[in-house]
Amino acid sequence: MDYMGHVYQNKNKMADTYEDEEERKHSQRIVSAFKYYKPHSLQRLKKTESYLLTLPSHHLKLLKKYRQHLQNIRLCIENNDAIIKLIIKDVSHIFENVNPACSNNDSTLSPRPVLADQEKVQATIKQLVRDWSIEGAAERQTCYQPIIDEIIEQFSPDSCDSSDVQILVPGAGLGRLAYEIAKRGYTCQGNEFSLFMLFASHFVLNKCRGINTYQVHPWVHQYMNNLLAVHQTQAVYFPDVNPSDLPEDAQFSMTAGDFLEVYTSNNCWDCVATCFFIDCANNVVQFIETIYNILKPGGIWINLGPLLYHFSDMPTEDSIEPSYEVIREVIQGFGFKIEKEETRVQTRYAQNVNSMLQCEYNSVYFVCRKLNQELINEHRHGNENNNGTKERDNN
Ligand SMILES: C[S@@+](CC[C@H](N)C(=O)[O-])C[C@H]1O[C@@H](n2cnc3c(N)ncnc32)[C@H](O)[C@@H]1O
Repeated sequence: MDYMGHVYQNKNKMADTYEDEEERKHSQRIVSAFKYYKPHSLQRLKKTESYLLTLPSHHLKLLKKYRQHLQNIRLCIENNDAIIKLIIKDVSHIFENVNPACSNNDSTLSPRPVLADQEKVQATIKQLVRDWSIEGAAERQTCYQPIIDEIIEQFSPDSCDSSDVQILVPGAGLGRLAYEIAKRGYTCQGNEFSLFMLFASHFVLNKCRGINTYQVHPWVHQYMNNLLAVHQTQAVYFPDVNPSDLPEDAQFSMTAGDFLEVYTSNNCWDCVATCFFIDCANNVVQFIETIYNILKPGGIWINLGPLLYHFSDMPTEDSIEPSYEVIREVIQGFGFKIEKEETRVQTRYAQNVNSMLQCEYNSVYFVCRKLNQELINEHRHGNENNNGTKERDNN
């Protein structure tokens, strides 16, 4: 039973039986991917173990510790699998309105696991660290805190009733940013289209009770760049806060579905907060246009993240990859005024801090306002006064 019931709404189009069937199949595929986690991970481990056994005995003797380590990896995979079983338990009931008619009791697996899906299962486990563990606190401080601080500055509880402020977080991942915004009294909706993320965030937000009650081994699939064996098998506890600790009257919900398809009503939101999201588009301009349309006149868009352009190297996907220089022209072209801007914001994403390989983004951070007609006139007037040169809105 959901003890607190953060609302999950499925906004995927379920207009006809065909789409219904497609959605059921998709859901079934994600459940299968989670179920394949253990056999797939053990297969990878067995490959190393089998090769190891072909090595000369004096090598094996020298590698005694390593062989023990491989045994530990097996235990970590089993522990992760136990969490996965909890994540996919009852997933057919997570949405308040419509549900993908898939059942976890169905013991059949789809014929072949898709490798990309296995990577997504592993990424979901790592995302638990970023969003819901003490180990993720530093990442959240650099990625989420500037957004939260800006919301508080723009919609100060001293000057408005926070619950009247409608904030949308598209690409919400495991929901921590949206949760933190709702915790501060704002009406906040997270939106996410990945069922990997939705199943996992539903488990954390609606099923986890207490603090640090579960553990995962997020780096167990990282066989390379380990300084110490224990870095690979490290356990990370979650959730670092009790997700049920939201105030009674908190307004927090999650919607499932493609941001572009779900949010089609104009002038609805006071604020859209995007973190590591805009580069998930085939056409980033369409994301920006949608954000512009759904904001109320005078509303703000806060963004932080890189331009990794997720579809860029996918042969079967379309993609454009404009530089940030071009993106800011697009933003202004739609009628936003960039009010704050910072480049080279050092940020990380689900990073294993112990790894010998570190990845860091010099992200961009900006706050921009959707101009209403009055503001547009003022803005134009300001530009004209500025010797006719195009104003750079950069603070
Ligand atoms: C890189 S992750 C960022 C997650 C989270 N904001 C964070 O900072 O940890 C981007 C997320 O956006 C989601 N996403 C991408 N395109 C989307 C779309 N069109 N509609 C809804 N969610 C989308 C992905 O599934 C993924 O969870």
